[in-house]
Amino acid sequence: MSEESAQKIVRKTVQESEAETTIVMLPSDANPLGNVFGGMILKYVDLLAGLVAKRHAGHANIVTASIDSMTFLKPVYIGNALILKARINYVKRSSMEVEVKIEAEDLNKSQKVHTGTAYVTLVALDERGKPTEVPKLILNTEEEERRFQEGQERMDARLKTRKK
Ligand SMILES: CC(C)(COP(=O)(O)OP(=O)(O)OC[C@H]1O[C@@H](n2cnc3c(N)ncnc32)[C@H](O)[C@@H]1OP(=O)(O)O)[C@@H](O)C(=O)NCCC(=O)NCCS
Repeated sequence: MSEESAQKIVRKTVQESEAETTIVMLPSDANPLGNVFGGMILKYVDLLAGLVAKRHAGHANIVTASIDSMTFLKPVYIGNALILKARINYVKRSSMEVEVKIEAEDLNKSQKVHTGTAYVTLVALDERGKPTEVPKLILNTEEEERRFQEGQERMDARLKTRKK
């Protein structure tokens, strides 16, 4: 698709940008306790959220504006597969909320546990570094409408406490 026709798309579905990744955790990902370092997980969360936002925004550059406070519910162990699933919930004008679900899979037992969920706000910038409008979200299901509504409520709340 040419850049010109890509820019004419003003609406996109959730499915057009969603992404998933699986990474085996290595000893180099460990904290001093020997489990996976939380900052390593956040790095992958930020990377995958950025990929989803970039897919949605198309031509624009993407920066992370904020990551909501998140809880690590369970440890992730070295040798586990870290599974991240990311999808866009909400689009404002230049900003987007991407939800990243985090799971750890014990590959010996074929068991997966949910270890946390992150909400990442990303902003599209034009070539001058100014926030620029991104495509609107096409909501095809009741679940997508509910997620959009909840995303809007979270965005309103985070902007109320925004530090300048
Ligand atoms: C995020 C950033 C682009 C906002 O720029 P700004 O000049 O304050 O622009 P605005 O106030 O017009 O905000 C632009 C959009 O970002 C949103 N936004 C800004 N800060 C936000 C925050 N902390 N949380 C959620 N959304 C935020 C605004 O609501 C607005 O959204 P909208 O266009 O959809 O209505 C700017 O603060 C920045 O560049 N930060 C550094 C980002 C970065 O480098 N991240 C990588 C890690 S260092």
